[in-house]
Amino acid sequence: MIFEQHFDNESSTYSYLIGSKPGGLAALIDPVQGHEYLYLDRLKEHNLKLAFALDTHTHADHVTAIGELRDRTGCITVMSEYSKTDCVSRRVKNREIIEFDGVKITAIYTPVHTNESLSYLMDDRVFTGDTLLIGGTGRTDFQNGNSYAQYDSLFKKLLALPDETLVYPGHDYNGNKASTIGQERSNNPRLQVNNAEEYARIMNTLKLPTPKLMDIAVPLNLSCGKKAS
Ligand SMILES: [Fe+2]
Repeated sequence: MIFEQHFDNESSTYSYLIGSKPGGLAALIDPVQGHEYLYLDRLKEHNLKLAFALDTHTHADHVTAIGELRDRTGCITVMSEYSKTDCVSRRVKNREIIEFDGVKITAIYTPVHTNESLSYLMDDRVFTGDTLLIGGTGRTDFQNGNSYAQYDSLFKKLLALPDETLVYPGHDYNGNKASTIGQERSNNPRLQVNNAEEYARIMNTLKLPTPKLMDIAVPLNLSCGKKAS
């Protein structure tokens, strides 16, 4: 398998390139607008054909590249069945499998950073989007966020995975690249709670600033990062 983690300095977003084998098919998870040429170069380097571009959710802090990648490569764009986007060609349900060239990526419905948030599970690793971050969790104070339901996603779905499962988040602001479910269960301060009420209390007192790009990013992301023509 080919696996690459790419970082966008502007929004501290991680994107992931997964390829079956040199010369095979590939998927990109949470690609960021402005990095299309980098992704296309990396695909070319491995002689990969992009089959799928997946977003974990409608991002508020950066513009997605899935529309541009679709236009340039003909790949299939993927988001949740609950996404309000009008442009993706495949909308996946909880536990639905995206399969290409022997690679299987299972969508896990993990609201509610947004009400459509997905994590993507592949073999020994899970791409947690903004639901589970290293030492943190995704904010729940806009885009229909809900701390109680996010508690269920975290504790009943993600922490139910084996401890050794690698965690690859949608963002990191502290230079961390990956973690494991076991490490997050033990060390993540947001997960040291006994119930959903305690979790919601933490989330409701965060008082985070609105993302700089939110008013631009959300409308654009509802059309896969492309301006309506
Ligand atoms: Fe987000």
